[in-house]
Amino acid sequence: MTTPSDHISDRRTFAIISHPDAGKTTLTEKLLYFGGAIHLAGEVKARGQNRRARSDWMKIEQQRGISVTSSVMTFEKDGLTFNLLDTPGHEDFSEDTYRTLTAVDSAVMVIDAARGIEAQTRKLFEVCRLRSVPIITFVNKVDREGRPPFELLDEIADMLALDVTPMSWPVGMGSDFEGVYDLHANTLSQPEGPSREFMGKALSFTGMDDAALEKVISAPGLATLRDEAELAMGGYGAFDVEAYRAGDLTPVYFGSALKDFGVAELIAALGTHAPGPRPQPAEPAPVLPSRADVTGFIFKVQANMDPNHRDRIAFMRLCSGTFKRGMKLTPTGHGKPIAVHSPILFFAQNRELADEAFPGDIIGIPNHGTLRVGDTMSERADVRFTGLPNFAPEILRRVALKDPTKTKQLRKALDDMAEEGVTQVFYPEIGSNWIIGVVGQLQLEVLLSRLEAEYKVDAGLEMAPFDTARWVSAENPADLKAFMDVNRNAMAKDRDNNPVYLAKTAWDVGYVSDRYPKVKFAATRER
Ligand code: G4P
Repeated sequence: MTTPSDHISDRRTFAIISHPDAGKTTLTEKLLYFGGAIHLAGEVKARGQNRRARSDWMKIEQQRGISVTSSVMTFEKDGLTFNLLDTPGHEDFSEDTYRTLTAVDSAVMVIDAARGIEAQTRKLFEVCRLRSVPIITFVNKVDREGRPPFELLDEIADMLALDVTPMSWPVGMGSDFEGVYDLHANTLSQPEGPSREFMGKALSFTGMDDAALEKVISAPGLATLRDEAELAMGGYGAFDVEAYRAGDLTPVYFGSALKDFGVAELIAALGTHAPGPRPQPAEPAPVLPSRADVTGFIFKVQANMDPNHRDRIAFMRLCSGTFKRGMKLTPTGHGKPIAVHSPILFFAQNRELADEAFPGDIIGIPNHGTLRVGDTMSERADVRFTGLPNFAPEILRRVALKDPTKTKQLRKALDDMAEEGVTQVFYPEIGSNWIIGVVGQLQLEVLLSRLEAEYKVDAGLEMAPFDTARWVSAENPADLKAFMDVNRNAMAKDRDNNPVYLAKTAWDVGYVSDRYPKVKFAATRER
């Protein structure tokens, strides 16, 4: 019998979003370290520390035979279980990243204090906004020279159209750095020793005007802190947890992942403010985490995690119910239930081999390619999660004709084969290279041999600058025209003259469709 999970409110499933170099890796490692999931060697903590943490973590991976680093990192603290999902594709922003953000309940946005909001942060933020994912901001590297805190706060507010509430304040930065003051707890974390890092003992005060502060902060440092903090507390609204959870307000923590400032506060903030599992959009109705039976969805599929096995691992986010090893779940569209006998459960280190998982948790399900991204898994097969990008695998190639006098034959051949369903064909608005689309590599070989044998056309296939295609339409022709005019470089016609948008990545499709809400992007052709 299934019962609602007892552990709904103690899960915190989140991701870190940032621009490369802002400190995501360093912060991840520190979160795991402070959360007790990894143990750094005690000596020499400054440089090279990251590497040590990495290799420590890799040992765990080897023991378990899976690549934990790139997927799910779990730690337990203060009775809560934190599931940190890695957002892959640092440089090349991918649909993988987008999908991962569909599986979290909140995010931490890391910003470099010297750089502010950068391109990648912004893109990722927009994905979070699409789903109203609440965000805690961590302004990193305050131990170095950075931009004035007010400038950074205003930039977050203006560029992201978010309300901001500073939760802590840096006492100087760079060579003037004297610590981080917690504006709510009235505690001060100070740098110590030659490495100028935080050793874990924060000092408590009665408030900003406590005279004891004069003993620990230089006179100019304290004068500035008092002035700025007063202005900040008055100038920005108080922290409102509901506004944060609705994705309208971000609490801002200043810190240094490298020197351990603000990391414990960040974990505490996730524990106190960040939401547990949220209701998930689904048909026929949203799924509440309190629902008794098990439901979840696949947000990522990874091949060859364990070189000894050819299996793929499908990562399922559990949305409701208590998952138990061996349980039967039915994937949408496949009909047949599958018994999940050997799930990979991502345990915090101090949990001995548990056999259960709860809403918000991630389960790795080994399979031979049956499970696809976007699939719903459920005990009763009566629900389907929506709003998940489900991208059909597609290969697009440019057709290069070797003899230009054969253009007519080539067109006929491509049209014929499109008709038969061997391939799809697209004629770009700009340029003369026709593009074909297939689902599998084998179709390409079929196409080439038939071109030669049946149509006597000698052609080659080249990489196309596009990865996927969508048929576009709109109720009002003017909306479609406006879209097509702006995106002429990416527009093509199919065999029947229907307009098609060719995208560099499937993620691009999500991005433009968000920007052009009146245009419909169809992954299948509507006849
Ligand atoms: P990323 O994953 O977001 O790309 O960033 P990562 O953590 O790799 O950090 C990028 C660089 O910034 C690293 O330096 C890292 O040590 C440094 N860094 C991260 N957090 C802080 C901080 O709070 N203060 C200071 N001063 N530096 C920080 P690197 O020299 O590129 O790498 P490494 O040789 O130190 O590993």
